[in-house]
Amino acid sequence: MAILSIPEKQIQLTDAQEIRRFMNERGIFFDQWHCDVRFDDSASTDEILAAYASDLRPFMENGGYQTADVISIHSTTENYEAIRAKFLSEHTHSEDEIRFFVDGQGLFWFHLEEEAVFNLLCERGDLISVPAGTKHWFDAGETNPFVKAIRIFIDMSGWVPHYTESGLEKQFTDFNFPTRG
Ligand code: LAC
Ligand code: NI
Repeated sequence: MAILSIPEKQIQLTDAQEIRRFMNERGIFFDQWHCDVRFDDSASTDEILAAYASDLRPFMENGGYQTADVISIHSTTENYEAIRAKFLSEHTHSEDEIRFFVDGQGLFWFHLEEEAVFNLLCERGDLISVPAGTKHWFDAGETNPFVKAIRIFIDMSGWVPHYTESGLEKQFTDFNFPTRG
């Protein structure tokens, strides 16, 4: 269940409908799917994709998406610092960035024109599609990262990050992952 925060305005949304409306008004697709299957750290990409194949198929067909893979990060992932650094600087992609969180959590940050920066804590069951060209960055946390997410692509080359070099993310490094209640 996602949590949306606007740090500069000290606003937090936890209601899924409100979050969906907020995101959709800004052209960012957001949805929540039932997500009952649990995987351990040894679960393979194929196992995870197979568990959600029937849910993903119509979504992928509608959007013309061709391929899917799984990103799995946990506390013992090697080179986590380098992996984290890759996503932590503001960037865009030439195609939509689609993530379906099957477990764990991560913070998506958004920098839209003429808008306060906001972030969305994505957790199990959250599906997000960030339109091509949208400035964003992502953090799975400094320590004890845990992310299991399906990534969907039209073409893998569209996923290359184009860094804006704005350094904007540095203004938010003291933001703590939000918790419910
Ligand atoms: C990416 C994210 C996480 O580009 O923004 O993969
Ligand atoms: Ni990205």
